[in-house]
Amino acid sequence: MRILLTGANGQLGYDFQRLFDSKNISYTATDYKELDITDVDKVREFVKGRDYNYIINCAAYNDVDKAESEAELCYKLNAYAPRDLAQIAKEIGAVFVTYSTDFVFEGNKNSPYTEKDVPNPPSVYAKSKHEGEKLVLDAHDKSFVIRTSWVFGIANNNFNKQVMGWSKGRDRLNIVDDQVSVPTYSKDLAEFSLELINSEKFGPYQLSNNGECSKYDQAKYILESIGWKGELGTAKTTDFNLPAKRSKYSKISSEKAEKVIGKKMPHWQDAIDRFLEELNK
Ligand SMILES: NC(=O)c1ccc[n+]([C@@H]2O[C@H](COP(=O)([O-])OP(=O)(O)OC[C@H]3O[C@@H](n4cnc5c(N)ncnc54)[C@H](OP(=O)(O)O)[C@@H]3O)[C@@H](O)[C@H]2O)c1
Repeated sequence: MRILLTGANGQLGYDFQRLFDSKNISYTATDYKELDITDVDKVREFVKGRDYNYIINCAAYNDVDKAESEAELCYKLNAYAPRDLAQIAKEIGAVFVTYSTDFVFEGNKNSPYTEKDVPNPPSVYAKSKHEGEKLVLDAHDKSFVIRTSWVFGIANNNFNKQVMGWSKGRDRLNIVDDQVSVPTYSKDLAEFSLELINSEKFGPYQLSNNGECSKYDQAKYILESIGWKGELGTAKTTDFNLPAKRSKYSKISSEKAEKVIGKKMPHWQDAIDRFLEELNK
């Protein structure tokens, strides 16, 4: 494998790098500074003569609230740049891999969403990701578009780290219990993605850790794990006047990918245990 990794300093990009290092897989890691994925001419120039057979895009616009007032930039990064990367991958004969979100589902269901469910994205961020999914799958038939949810990892910021930060010096926290999905460890996502990619069974997929929980449940698990002695209360999404509408329930099923790979994603609690271990190393 000769891989071009974009957005490589993010949570998933970082875990892909560690995975490739452990398997002696050849890759070029780029982030915003080395390769701005919204600059299509630069990307085309960059790949020239480098003989990549995979482009894995981990770059994204992930600020769900800010996206409401930065729709143009958000679409550029989440929809048009992935489309252009897919097109470039096609031109050089490479497989293209990119990621989308459980937020494409608004949450009127109460059982896990599958790839067959029709998205109804409730925010600019979710709409831009859904648009990206369609554009990529149209642009290049050797593409994997993988939806995931509530990603946490060692690199960059995430809800787990925020909760740990908020708990310092406080004896009471209130966390919303009316948003349900599943936290996903970027290390597991990278490992399972690589197995999926190796299957060469291209198309739309979903990969997240197993089980489901609310943000409150996730916070409770982390706070108990780190031995916080404070009091955890519940809150509602409407208590916070956030610009972007959130999905009530957006748990996605990984069954399709798990069948292809032949094994199950670990449970989210097991994933958080390993994340905390890694963080404390
Ligand atoms: N995080 C989540 O909870 C979540 C949930 C569902 C789906 N996903 C999707 O999963 C994938 C991986 O997410 P992640 O959490 O690993 O993302 P992340 O940590 O936010 O990493 C994204 C990386 O892309 C970089 N980047 C931003 N603009 C760029 C540009 N124009 N060109 C090149 N790189 C650029 C960022 O750099 P800067 O930090 O300098 O901006 C960052 O290093 C993304 O597609 C994301 O949308 C994430």
